[in-house]
Amino acid sequence: MMRRADLLVIGTDTGVGKTLVAAALLAGLAAAGLRCVGMKPVAAGLMRRGDAWVSEDAEALMRAASVQAPRALVNPYALREAAAPDLAARREGARIALARIMRAFAELRAMSDAVVVEGAGGFRVPLGDGLDGGDLAQALNVPVVLVVGMRLGCINHALLTAEAVAARGLTLAGWVANRIDATMAHFEQNVETLQARLDARRLGIVPNLAQPRFETMAPMLDVRALLDTIAPA
Ligand SMILES: Nc1ncnc2c1ncn2[C@@H]1O[C@H](COP(=O)(O)OP(=O)(O)O)[C@@H](O)[C@H]1O
Ligand SMILES: [Mg+2]
Repeated sequence: MMRRADLLVIGTDTGVGKTLVAAALLAGLAAAGLRCVGMKPVAAGLMRRGDAWVSEDAEALMRAASVQAPRALVNPYALREAAAPDLAARREGARIALARIMRAFAELRAMSDAVVVEGAGGFRVPLGDGLDGGDLAQALNVPVVLVVGMRLGCINHALLTAEAVAARGLTLAGWVANRIDATMAHFEQNVETLQARLDARRLGIVPNLAQPRFETMAPMLDVRALLDTIAPA
């Protein structure tokens, strides 16, 4: 029997490539024959699509998935304003309830072999009512993939994030070096430093892409190695 391959994709910051990596992992899992679906529990910052307001992150995850699920399950909280989620929620009178996210997660699990969840912002982003991204991660209780947005300062952000993940009793299953800054100096040495200090498998090194698309990124990530780690046969 195929073991579950659920994942939580987090980043060293907002805007570091979580959505692209999560979608690329979905594409890789789909290519490996898994029934997979994405989830963006909390999205802040929507775009207009006809009469509706939708999350671009949720849309990307839905495009990459092999199982089509209702948008309300993929993205239970869609907040209009591109602000910290607790603030965006408060400004539209919404409250983010962990129970609602967990119900949607359970439904997505029931229709798939793998749910790839994209976190909001950085790991400890406030979600309101004392809840933060770390609490959500702990409740989801699935292996974590860390996207390191390669730029000056990322080593500290990566190591702090890895520490926070471990403090929640979660497993860092892998990390991705994503070159969001094309001009970063000493790129290779920084990747080596991260490799030496992160107790996790490196799933790929993604160069700065002229046209960043998950389809381009998917073959750069070692989904086989990831599956060996999280769902060994
Ligand atoms: N390797 C890369 N090369 C070039 N641009 C990238 C790369 N990774 C991410 N980007 C760009 O950076 C921005 C943030 O990426 P995204 O996946 O939305 O990050 P997050 O989900 O962490 O906010 C997007 O405009 C994306 O196209
Ligand atoms: Mg995103």
